[in-house]
Amino acid sequence: MRTLIVANWKMNPPVLKEAEKLFNDIKEGVKNIKDAKVVICPSFPYISNLKSENSNLKLGAQNCFWEEKGAFTGEVSPQMLKDLGVEYVILGHSERRKYLGETDEMINKKLKKALELGLLSILCVGDKDRETKGDMKEIDLQLETALRGLENYDLSKLTITYEPVWAISTTEGGAAATPEDTKEAVFYIKNYLNVLIGKDKTSKIRIIYGGSVNSQNINSFIKAGVDGALVGAASLKAEEFINVVKNASNV
Ligand code: PGA
Repeated sequence: MRTLIVANWKMNPPVLKEAEKLFNDIKEGVKNIKDAKVVICPSFPYISNLKSENSNLKLGAQNCFWEEKGAFTGEVSPQMLKDLGVEYVILGHSERRKYLGETDEMINKKLKKALELGLLSILCVGDKDRETKGDMKEIDLQLETALRGLENYDLSKLTITYEPVWAISTTEGGAAATPEDTKEAVFYIKNYLNVLIGKDKTSKIRIIYGGSVNSQNINSFIKAGVDGALVGAASLKAEEFINVVKNASNV
């Protein structure tokens, strides 16, 4: 399995010109790195302007809706994304759960539709409280509901991101989860998936880590056994992000 590095640009950068420059700089910087797959997830308005001829660099979206079309003001369907060349979609990010009230039930519907339409889906799960880290009850619930009824879907198209909420958006990676925390969480999630869905069906699911990943710490997460990373702040600086990709490949 090739390492997967996903850039989550969130609601950045502020203008298209900057988005194009960032995208093109990253495209140039990663074009010869063959042992990592790179996905850039920009805001919706930028997607149609960003083109990658590089088979190693793919486009993703940060969200999508659970219906294909209709009276759903403000929503974007997986079909619309596919039409623009988008191959990946992030679903259930903690910021959408927090600010937009997304529930596990909504995420389950989105996940089903995205997978049905062939979008490679990146489901985010994570615990909120650093003090109770290691207690995986919250993650159990998120997985149980978000993955309900997915037994017969093509789960090789699913990636799960272990993204503890307390580790997101800290500066300079100071409070990222430790590689040990991550190793334990990935082991736990794998076992939980085996019980929930069955080992034969879940063995193809990638598990990546998110939360203050940067070029200095990526190596330790890959060494801890994750299949890649979801990168926020560090993906907004081309050189730093290219180094994340490079260091994820040189393990
Ligand atoms: P961060 O964001 O790398 O800035 O912590 C990660 C994310 O929220 O996906």
